[in-house]
Amino acid sequence: MEPILKIDSVVKTFPGVRALDGVCLNIYEGEIHTLLGENGAGKSTLMNVLNGLYSPDSGNIVIDGSPYIFKSPKDSIRAGIGMVHQHFMLVYSHTVFENILLAVEDIPFFFSRKRLKKRITEIIRKFNISIDLDEPIWKLSIGQQQWVELIKLLLRDCRVLILDEPTAVLTPQEADRLFRFLKQLRSEGKSIIFISHKMREVMELSDRVTILKKGSSVKELLRGSFDENILAGLMIGTDDVPVWEKTEKTFDSIILSIEHLYADKDKNMSDLIDFSIDLRKGEILGIAGVAGNGQKTLAEVLTGLKNPKAGKITTGGTDITNADSRQSHIAGIAHVPEDRKAMGIAPEMSVDDNLILKSYKNKKFRKLFMQNRKAIEENAREQIDAFAIKTGPKGTPVRLLSGGNIQKVIIARELSLRPSVLVALYPTRGLDIGSAEYVHKVIMDAREQDMSTILISEDLDELLKLSDRIAVMFRGEITGVVDPKKTTREEIGLLMSGETLP
Ligand SMILES: Nc1ncnc2c1ncn2[C@@H]1O[C@H](COP(=O)(O)OP(=O)(O)OP(=O)(O)O)[C@@H](O)[C@H]1O
Ligand SMILES: [Mg+2]
Repeated sequence: MEPILKIDSVVKTFPGVRALDGVCLNIYEGEIHTLLGENGAGKSTLMNVLNGLYSPDSGNIVIDGSPYIFKSPKDSIRAGIGMVHQHFMLVYSHTVFENILLAVEDIPFFFSRKRLKKRITEIIRKFNISIDLDEPIWKLSIGQQQWVELIKLLLRDCRVLILDEPTAVLTPQEADRLFRFLKQLRSEGKSIIFISHKMREVMELSDRVTILKKGSSVKELLRGSFDENILAGLMIGTDDVPVWEKTEKTFDSIILSIEHLYADKDKNMSDLIDFSIDLRKGEILGIAGVAGNGQKTLAEVLTGLKNPKAGKITTGGTDITNADSRQSHIAGIAHVPEDRKAMGIAPEMSVDDNLILKSYKNKKFRKLFMQNRKAIEENAREQIDAFAIKTGPKGTPVRLLSGGNIQKVIIARELSLRPSVLVALYPTRGLDIGSAEYVHKVIMDAREQDMSTILISEDLDELLKLSDRIAVMFRGEITGVVDPKKTTREEIGLLMSGETLP
């Protein structure tokens, strides 16, 4: 069988970076093809070449045997290729229907609105999508916004669909629904290019996997010839994966008391309802739960981004419920893709400067009234090294880094503040396995130094591995607190769905 789409020896350079270095990729009809690679390997860049957003320096795109040159995304769409971007291309004040209308305006077939509406309704029914066409986009959850993007592609009758880390923003339930949808498309002969760092998903979906390393394709594997270990080995290669062990510890003092906290509703997310828990010094307190049950609000209140409606937060007897005083005790790292503000980067500034964004007043980084550039650069070198951040040439604005590498910059910066409490909201989302493991090691090392961490995650493996205790959240409340050594996944699952334990 011949591939329907071939990417042949594509090279793409940015100033000082060779993002793609002769990469090849073969896509066959009716397959789910996963692109796997470390942060910065070139996955998104390659997809942007295929999507017509970037033109390659050299190399070819061949469809059904003929070479193509895409000058814009329009060309790519005309050739039957559609992409759901990491950051959705939607007009927030418009309704779902208006957004879809904008996307298909140039298709003569949909000359009449009535015909378009009928076709959309067919799609919604066929794939059992729950969405209201008259709702404005801003009211939708991220998962629903993704469906709008997918409906746009389906109307265009794309043969090849590209999804760049679609599940990074989905709850596990939404992800399952997306997977059923992708499998259904596959059975209809569509081809899907899928990008994810989550091995469980890669194993479940992939018919074929291409592994990318430093801008080159190193291996193509067919289902049956790979497992998680083989893939991880090929992806990371000889790079070191950090190892760590969890030590036994006793906890005797309380570093943070959260008492009867209430917070306001945030869009369609749950608020906090009478949320109380004590954080002990040096412990890792896991917070499990399906995203959207108040976790983001909890992180925002604790890190001072938001004030509670009622309740009290104290540390060592001092009331720190007031926002300003809270920030000097608690640092936060968050991966909330729907909210760039919460990501806490200055996109146009360099990596060096972003790494000291919160400590630029520190004497270490000052020289009389000026910045001490040497110290700032020295600090950056250390952090970049420790976290293996791929930065591009000196002075590159942070926004040009790959998704996972931006995440690493934030983590490095927050941990270098040496907080007594760290609030980590989905800290390893979007990170490759080596980097995720490194973050785990850093949190573990900090635990040895008696830093306390509130680890908010949807990843049960991560929670069970790291936490000293796990509290489960449902609709803004704690439904139970369990010991990771004694609990089961089933027990946590029950608590996550709102049941209480006997
Ligand atoms: N517009 C750009 N200008 C300069 N450099 C860029 C640009 N886009 C990407 N890069 C660089 O190209 C390399 C590949 O980035 P890319 O976003 O393709 O990685 P990725 O495999 O998608 O990683 P991740 O898993 O973190 O999303 C990185 O070193 C990145 O910094
Ligand atoms: Mg990417």
